[in-house]
This record gives sequence, C-alpha cells and structure tokens, in this order.
Amino acid sequence: MSIDFGNDIYEEPIVAKTFLEEDAGEVSLRPKTLKDYIGQEKAKQNLAIFIEAARKRTEPLDHVLLHGPPGLGKTTLAGIIAQEMGVNIRITSGPAIEKPGDLAALLTNLGENDILFVDEIHRLNRSVEEILYPAMEDYALDIIVGKGPSANSIRLDLPKFTLIGATTRAGQLSAPLRDRFGVTLRLELYRPEELALIVKRSAGILSVPIEDDGAMEIARRSRGTPRIANRMLRRVRDFAQVKADGTITMPVANEALCALEIDHLGLDPIDRRMLKAIIDNYGGGPVGLETLAATIGEEAVTLEDVYEPYLMQLGFLTRTPRGRCVTPKAYTHLGLVIPGGADAPEQLTL
Ligand code: ADE
Repeated sequence: MSIDFGNDIYEEPIVAKTFLEEDAGEVSLRPKTLKDYIGQEKAKQNLAIFIEAARKRTEPLDHVLLHGPPGLGKTTLAGIIAQEMGVNIRITSGPAIEKPGDLAALLTNLGENDILFVDEIHRLNRSVEEILYPAMEDYALDIIVGKGPSANSIRLDLPKFTLIGATTRAGQLSAPLRDRFGVTLRLELYRPEELALIVKRSAGILSVPIEDDGAMEIARRSRGTPRIANRMLRRVRDFAQVKADGTITMPVANEALCALEIDHLGLDPIDRRMLKAIIDNYGGGPVGLETLAATIGEEAVTLEDVYEPYLMQLGFLTRTPRGRCVTPKAYTHLGLVIPGGADAPEQLTL
C-alpha cells in the first residue's frame, strides 16, 4: 500500500484544525487496521461488513463519505480501509484540485480498485464536481474535444475505484454529490475512556512511560479528539522529561496542561474568550456567529468547526435560529454568577 500525503503546515495552537508539522509524526501513531482503531464502534462495525462483502465480490468498495469534526481520524480511517481492502490510496483535498484537468489526472493514474481520498470535499469547485459525477457512477470521464460547433464529447474509461470523501460540513455538500456516496459514516467525538486508550497506545509507540491516571488526565482535557490528545501527549512528555523523572503521571499532566492554559475540561483561552465575549458583550446571547467571530478576532469557520462542537457537547453553548447562546453551566464553569439564578444579586426596583 502506498500513501501519498500533501499536507500544509503552519504554527497553530493545540486545538488547531489543520495538520501540523508535529502531527507528521502522528502518521506513525495512526492505527493501520480496524482492530487497532479505538472507538467509533458503529462506523467500524458497518465498515467491517462492507469491506468483507466487497472483498468477497472482488469489487471496489462503494464510495464512502466520512463526516464529523476535525481531528477524529477521517484520514486514518481512509488509510485503514485501503489497508483492509489491499489497495493503494491517493490522498488529496478539495481546494488542491483546482481544475477539471487536475481531477482527470488523479483519476486516470489510479489502479484497479484503488482509493482516491479527498479531504474537505465540500470545497471542490463546481466544474470539478461535475467531472466527478460520471466518474463515480460509471467509472468514466466525459471530455470535450474541440471548440464551438465542432466540439465533441468523448468518453474515457477509468479503472474502477472508490472515492472516500471527508468533510467537517456534510450540510455544505451539493445534493447530487451527496447522493453518489453509497456509504455515509458520521464520526462522533470520543469518550474520555476511549481517548485514554488512544493515549496509552500512542505512549507505547513513543516509548513514554505513562500511568493510567496520567493518560486519563490527558484524555479528559483533549475535547473528544485523538489528534489533540496526541499533541498533548507530546507536550506533557516534554514536562515529564524536564520537570520529573520522565513518567507521565496525573500531577505531571496537570502541571503541563495548566501551563498550556488548558483547563480541567480541556477549554483553551479561545474557548473561554468566546464564552466571555457572549456574556460580557451580548448578555449571554443570542449573537450571530460572524459578529462573535469579529468580536474576538477569530474566523467564523474556525469557531464553527473547531470550537463549537465541543462547547455544545459540554452543554456550554446552544445554537438558536437567532444566534449563539451561553448556558447557565458555562457561567458556573467560568466562576460567574448566573443571571436570574439563586445567587444573582437582586434587581433594584426604583
Ligand atoms: N490515533 C488516532 N486516532 C486513533 C484511534 N481512533 N485509535 C487508535 N489510535 C489512534
């Protein structure tokens, strides 16, 4: 199996949505088989059946759409599917495929039953998407030859292949594209117990000694996301090696994560700024996403894709048709008085 990555690398915080340079090392932490992949039980069970059936029929797997928040293992799962199917995978992303010709080049270079993985598939442009329809449905490329009245369409056969599309925003996919995926799997945020197993597995691969409660401390604070858990593991390892005897214990994990300004639930300074801005500037909400993003100087898509899923899972934030609202639980977490709550100062009546 060959894996071809084309990732971008920037300096970003621990919750960064994009792949970071240090995550390149994460490739070695990625599980290679379904058996080693922890969590996402429902998606895994279904996939195992689809893979076995396709293998028995010696056919390519039906096209698969993976959706869910960033960092949950969509690329990892695509690599596992390729490994389990015994085929090659070619990895690209929606924005990287600029012209129909770019997609045509990718498709014509695939081998029989190979996998094309397109990350951020919701960002494909319309002209590229239209080439994809006959490719997915009939394994064919329709190419226009010539110009004007003498233009002709010729059909080029492609190898049978599987498209695996990944997106954080299934709602932004056009209906014709969405309908062409035979399998749609939604990945959910991981439970702390699952993340603790992932952290222990990664620590084993990195040869870092770790105690159970040290792993659990990292797990609890990594906002349901393996990519964040693995990043934290590396940072906590630094603290363990410099400030302790090298073993990750609960106190070491706690000291490291406090130094990184990550609180006991995994909220970072941006989460807290976001909640505080809604409380201080908009009376707890509702406030529109764009307004909120401008207030705290972040991009709306980052707030929506990276920060909101976890804040909503914690029950700190709700989305209403009129905008985002902070819940009483968030006030309590931030150590603030809940307006109208039992501890709120009485309103003065004049
Ligand atoms: N590393 C990242 N995601 C993982 C997962 N789901 N299982 C095991 N190791 C992982």
